[in-house]
Amino acid sequence: MAVERTLILIKPDGVERGLVGEIISRFEKKGFRIVGLKMLKFSEELAEKFYSVHRGKGFFNELVNYIASGPVVAMVIEGESAIKVSRAIIGPTDGREAPPGTIRGDYSLSKLKNTVHASDSVDSAAYEISVIFNEHELIP
Ligand code: CMP
Repeated sequence: MAVERTLILIKPDGVERGLVGEIISRFEKKGFRIVGLKMLKFSEELAEKFYSVHRGKGFFNELVNYIASGPVVAMVIEGESAIKVSRAIIGPTDGREAPPGTIRGDYSLSKLKNTVHASDSVDSAAYEISVIFNEHELIP
């Protein structure tokens, strides 16, 4: 077990439907410490950088267009096994298959517009945090 940091993104559909407070609350109530928080709107360039691991996949353009389509809320959380635990809290990628009780299971009916993102590894968390946050925007 290790204390980790990970990147949570409330996607445009989550912000548009007024789910920001509810989603942040789930991570707070679980016990994670919020060490970075901001609202932003991705440019296409920033979205391509953030999702560069998916470049070349059939859904890449759709994904970039979607993420850049409206404001998002980005958050860095810290706590024990934050990467694994936050992935369990959000549920599987496809909202239609995500079980009730997970964020995607409760709020999404889509694979693309799946309300929330959480980094899937230590390396991707470090990369994704660095794409969105400057060092001085994170609480030590
Ligand atoms: P996320 O956890 O943000 O990681 C990559 C995103 O790509 C994923 O959530 C989905 O929003 C999207 N995605 C993955 N697979 C597909 C797919 N087959 N069709 C459309 N979007 C997808």
